[in-house]
Amino acid sequence: MSTASELPEDFLSSGTTAPLLSVKDLSVTFPTDDGDVRAVRNVSFDLNPGDVLGIVGESGSGKSVSSMAIMGLLPKNAIVEGSIRYRGEELNGRTYKQMQPFRSKHISMIFQDPMTSLNPVYTVGWQLAETYRAHHDVSKKAAWAKAVEALELVGIPQPDRRAAQYPHEFSGGMRQRVVIAMAIINDPSVIIADEPTTALDVTVQAQILDTMLRLQAETDAAIVMITHDLGVVAGMVNRVQVMYGGTVVESGPVDDVFEQPRMPYTVGLLGSVPNPASLGKRLTPIKGAPPSLVNLPSGCSFSPRCPLVAEVCHEWEPELEEAGPNHTTRCHRWEHLATVDQPQRLFLHDEIGTVENPAVFAAARPDESLEVTAAHGSLVTDEEAK
Ligand SMILES: Nc1ncnc2c1ncn2[C@@H]1O[C@H](COP(=O)(O)OP(=O)(O)O)[C@@H](O)[C@H]1O
Ligand code: SF4
Ligand SMILES: [Mg+2]
Repeated sequence: MSTASELPEDFLSSGTTAPLLSVKDLSVTFPTDDGDVRAVRNVSFDLNPGDVLGIVGESGSGKSVSSMAIMGLLPKNAIVEGSIRYRGEELNGRTYKQMQPFRSKHISMIFQDPMTSLNPVYTVGWQLAETYRAHHDVSKKAAWAKAVEALELVGIPQPDRRAAQYPHEFSGGMRQRVVIAMAIINDPSVIIADEPTTALDVTVQAQILDTMLRLQAETDAAIVMITHDLGVVAGMVNRVQVMYGGTVVESGPVDDVFEQPRMPYTVGLLGSVPNPASLGKRLTPIKGAPPSLVNLPSGCSFSPRCPLVAEVCHEWEPELEEAGPNHTTRCHRWEHLATVDQPQRLFLHDEIGTVENPAVFAAARPDESLEVTAAHGSLVTDEEAK
């Protein structure tokens, strides 16, 4: 197998029609004493230059493990199956060292915690310069100038002076800007940002996201924006993939997924966190906990929490199927969901304790005879009530 450094110069810059990054049926399993943790199952996506893809899902849904698999940064015991192609070149199966030519220069990553990428004992200028020198044969002076330029590019005032400072001399927001400078200094084609603003306050978050979008427009890099916060993806991405229980449960153009979600989990997610679509509405958490990745429920992994669950949902896991143009969903009952007026009300009983409009539930499960218990607002079928 050839490594990137052995590839012809023009191979990595042009000359192939393959997507920039193509992930196909990526699965990651961690063998543990308690059993196999199936952290990621059959995740697929393609990225082309300029694409901004959002990956959203609750904590533990496999977002970070997917990105670490792409970067070749998982621990050795991880079993990584499927294909990860960068401009047609297979990355899965490469050792940490064989991945080195790709990291930073072609695909770079921004972590949630800036101190994952920064070393407290070196100045930020030195660290940026060394990151640049790892892929460019230039003098220390030229690399330092490049470091200062990168700091300026990400909006750090007085970059000359700041380059000589240590990470602890920067505020949280400024430190995350340094990490972004680190991620872009080698002009990568793909930037994977894993919850890059989660630790920051809202104003700083917005500034950082603005900076990332500006850089993206200037460089035409493709971005994968990983977040549990739908507010972040709403203003930023073109496409969104929703992850649950280690797999993609819905995927599509961001406006379609927000306006016409075709998977109950997405509906629940939209109603449980603040986002533009939830303005002025109640926030309704999804009851219950994410599934155990060692013991996944049989059938649909969302079935224990799903207000639309039916018999078939326990029988087999739905395949991803087309629910609209470029819009896919993993739900046996998406066509039914599409007919539900105000689908977010499916989750309302969790929060208000009484059902405001039982007709909504009746419409949601027409094939079952329903009785709504007014006392605690839960939904009881005739079968269960006996
Ligand atoms: N090294 C590991 N060994 C065993 N399980 C792991 C390991 N790394 C991650 N996991 C598990 O994989 C699942 C997905 O984790 P992660 O991708 O970090 O979730 P997210 O980023 O969506 O919050 C979690 O259940 C986590 O505990
Ligand atoms: S398959 Fe069934 S349980 Fe899963 S999300 Fe769809 S309706 Fe709910
Ligand atoms: Mg994570």
